[in-house]
Amino acid sequence: MNDLKWGVQSWDISEAKYMLDEFLELYGERPLKNNGGGMSSTHLFWTWYVLKKMNPENIIESGVYKGQGTWLMSRACPKAKIYSIDVKLSQRVYIDENVTYFSKDFYYINWKKILKPENTFCFFDDHQDAYLRLMQMKWMGFKKAMFEDNYPVLQGDCYSCKKVISGCGLTVDGNVIIEANDAHSDYFAENIKTYTTFPPLFKNEKTRWGDSWDDVNYPTPAPVFSNKDIEKYRQVKEEADAYTWICYVELN
Ligand SMILES: C[S@@+](CC[C@H](N)C(=O)[O-])C[C@H]1O[C@@H](n2cnc3c(N)ncnc32)[C@H](O)[C@@H]1O
Repeated sequence: MNDLKWGVQSWDISEAKYMLDEFLELYGERPLKNNGGGMSSTHLFWTWYVLKKMNPENIIESGVYKGQGTWLMSRACPKAKIYSIDVKLSQRVYIDENVTYFSKDFYYINWKKILKPENTFCFFDDHQDAYLRLMQMKWMGFKKAMFEDNYPVLQGDCYSCKKVISGCGLTVDGNVIIEANDAHSDYFAENIKTYTTFPPLFKNEKTRWGDSWDDVNYPTPAPVFSNKDIEKYRQVKEEADAYTWICYVELN
């Protein structure tokens, strides 16, 4: 099942291309010029875009790595209280004294004692199971989230929303971790209000895995910029293959 045709899309992104210059000015100030293994322009752009529009009171970030995303979130929503989680906090390079850090999984934190879930935005870039994260969110009272690692059916190390919707389960290096099933896609459909995959800013001919970036194996929304338009934004073009179908999900 092509997840782009699934459910309700909640984001009008028609103005996004006019916001890239503003974003790139901020991106030029980022603490980590080289953030290999972490977020770069495409995903940081959409994170910034969504956060600016939503302006939540609280942000929970799971998967800090060196801290580029934490920095961006603090700039997108300077008034928000940020809670950042990583099981290996020692990797941080950018450390923000206004952020509350945790080294235990999202699942183990008693959020009730810390914040009100209503105006809280969750951002997952921790390569964990998105289906379980959504179940945990529901239990804890959170409704809005982005998943950075929304890997397509054939790729990636974690159970993404795309995989859940398609019913393919999770296979990593030939090992079946989660069996193909229709239960998860059915319960997902029952519990999700909106699901939106953001487009790449620019689309290469080949995927990051070296095969053809076609719509059969890799359904992808139309890129924001064409080949011609992107020439002006060299850095965005160079970082284009870091794209992993970042998505926004809202629970009922
Ligand atoms: C791709 S990196 C995150 C990149 C980061 N968001 C950025 O802005 O560049 C994934 C991170 O998830 C962390 N991680 C792994 N398991 C986790 C868990 N259960 N909870 C939170 N973080 C976890 C890893 O230690 C790693 O630092």
